[in-house]
Amino acid sequence: METAQIKRSLGFKAVDELVRSGMKLGLGTGSTAIEAVRRLGERVREGSLRDIKAVATSFQTVVACQELGLSLMSLNDPAIDGCLDLTIDGADEVDPRWMLIKGGGAAMLIEKIVAHASRDFCIIVDSSKLVSRLGEKARVPVELVPEALIPVRRSLEALGGQPELRMARMKVGPVITDHGNFVLDVRFPQDFEPRQMEREIMAIPGVMAHGIFTRPVTDLLVGWPDGRIEHRRGPPGI
Ligand code: 5RP
Repeated sequence: METAQIKRSLGFKAVDELVRSGMKLGLGTGSTAIEAVRRLGERVREGSLRDIKAVATSFQTVVACQELGLSLMSLNDPAIDGCLDLTIDGADEVDPRWMLIKGGGAAMLIEKIVAHASRDFCIIVDSSKLVSRLGEKARVPVELVPEALIPVRRSLEALGGQPELRMARMKVGPVITDHGNFVLDVRFPQDFEPRQMEREIMAIPGVMAHGIFTRPVTDLLVGWPDGRIEHRRGPPGI
């Protein structure tokens, strides 16, 4: 089965199995998460899901919701009050403990805030995202204020990383995030302990967010090339 079809099935299944009327939802970013947003739009339009209060994690998701006619709220809205029932999002890597690298779409700042505000955190990935250790294939994205580029780069090198400034494709110069920041994509050739690396990167002045996610994933949906969608409930059995 083609990857695009696997992503559609993942988004469909996550919404149909986990979302109920009246829920407060976090809506993720990326080509897989957006399939869940599309399914949510369909279900709300047909009336089989009602009274959904949703918070977006990026401009990509905001625009998709506008096109689908889905209303959005902020985490600070009194109706949300900083707490969500469930967030559905994608990931770039998932390790055997279900720790994640995210931020391929440079949205990790709000993705992390929304994930931490959620009781349940559902990750939807095709099987190519499963790795034996974080950093096996993906680089760790680090969002930083532009003024801190050189000192942050040096600090990441001191942690053993090889940072590279993410460049824009349809604009000259670097990628600018939804919050006006730069992104350094950091290759870590050596193994690292995710919780420790998470703390060390966040301690660098100028860093706004990074893509190592260690909060517990409650539901992991994996799409396989034969079309099977496997729904694993956390915690992982290792
Ligand atoms: C965006 C993300 C995405 O969820 C992650 O990059 C996966 O994207 P895709 O589903 O397109 O592979 O973290 O910041």
